[in-house]
Amino acid sequence: MAKQDTTFMDTIVSLCKRRGFVYPASEIYGGIGNTYDYGPLGVELKRRVKEAWWSRMVTMRDDMVGLDSAIIQNPQTWITSGHVAGFTDPLVDCKKCKARFRADKLDDARCTEKPSRTPVENKCELTEARAFNLMFKTQIGAVEGSGSVAYLRPETAQGIFLNFKNVLESSRVKPPFGIAQIGKSFRNEITPGNFVFRTREFEQAEMEFFIPPEQNDHWYQYWRKERHQWYVDYGVNPEKLRLREHAKDELAHYSTGCTDVEYEYPFGWGELEGIACRTDFDLKRHSEASGKDLSYFDPEKKVRYLPWVVEPAAGVDRTALTMLIDAYEEDVVEDEKRVVLHFHPEIAPVTVGVFPLVKKEGMPEKAREIDQMLRQARFTTFYDESAAIGRRYRRQDEIGTPYGITIDGDTMKDGVVTIRNRDTMLQEKVKVAEIESWLRHAIRAWKRPAKKAASAG
Ligand code: GAP
Repeated sequence: MAKQDTTFMDTIVSLCKRRGFVYPASEIYGGIGNTYDYGPLGVELKRRVKEAWWSRMVTMRDDMVGLDSAIIQNPQTWITSGHVAGFTDPLVDCKKCKARFRADKLDDARCTEKPSRTPVENKCELTEARAFNLMFKTQIGAVEGSGSVAYLRPETAQGIFLNFKNVLESSRVKPPFGIAQIGKSFRNEITPGNFVFRTREFEQAEMEFFIPPEQNDHWYQYWRKERHQWYVDYGVNPEKLRLREHAKDELAHYSTGCTDVEYEYPFGWGELEGIACRTDFDLKRHSEASGKDLSYFDPEKKVRYLPWVVEPAAGVDRTALTMLIDAYEEDVVEDEKRVVLHFHPEIAPVTVGVFPLVKKEGMPEKAREIDQMLRQARFTTFYDESAAIGRRYRRQDEIGTPYGITIDGDTMKDGVVTIRNRDTMLQEKVKVAEIESWLRHAIRAWKRPAKKAASAG
């Protein structure tokens, strides 16, 4: 199936539900519009996306530390950051069908009366646009009133700025250095949609890189390149990725540059991540509003300054969706359609399928032993002894399991198993004692299959 096919998203949504990646939230009560729960495979997929981000951004670097700040902060945070006054989308109502649309996204919207048409095509009677604040309000404590109003954070970034001084004083870091954070954010989107691409509750992976102002251009270029490369390294087709530099009139008044990493989804090009130069805007505003000095004193140069910031801000759900869409392929094996997800092995929710060839001759017991051995070595495995071996392979192909281990007569006789590669479907005999090192080597050496690169354009 061509990925541009309009039914492609339906195929992805249905695979996600059927195999336990993503379910509609509150489904037994009829759902709650555009909100989703992650099932057993989805939660593994997202965990791996986060782990891949964290290991590259934090663990493997000596200029980065992590943070986990609160979702509900002092509401002054959002007044100072400008979100209370300005985090709005232009909203229009249709007087006829009563639906609400984003005025700047009418071409992407569907009239509720005639979902085949956009509001403009359906000649909807639209009101003048008015600003609609996207923050979810809540209240703190038992007494309602303006004094108790608080907000669910619309981005994780502000928690990083609030803790800049704490981290500086407690972690022996000095610019250039970054603070990374993964966590939930909430936006009352007027038109969520395209499955988990735009939802009201989502996870972000954000990093604020604090730098001497004169290094701004260097780090902006560095993070553009590095973030683009991260997606490529985790198997996303480079031909479907692009860097889109914002035009001057798209930039916030304080910003010197911003680039989106975009992916070509079945519904068109969309933002996967933004890399923004935020100058000293946030530290300066929080410093002024709190009365706390958030500057840094460079003891070598003997200068005090407010660091500037380059911010790569990614969406975890969007990344998981992108990797799923990008990994999807249908091919034909032995005259039958095979659905396969060519995930990078470190992204695949299950790494190894373990299959006794038959349910006798001690094979299930041996297979269970190997399964346990691999679990203890921290591989995620799936043991399956039901149905013909070909069918078991297909079930794992469909969820993207990169390796399948079959325990057969040779295992019982000579202590060797057969390992099948999801992408090439080639099989190799490996000694039981060498399975672990074989797998670790294969994962490190994995390359995006050439066939897919050619067919995904
Ligand atoms: N601190 C900057 C910031 O929040 P953003 O472009 O608004 O920037 C960063 O958000 C990323 O978060 C986006 O590139 C996208 O991947 C993800 N994101 C934003 N809104 C989202 C939504 N409603 N649903 C899912 N992901 C979203």
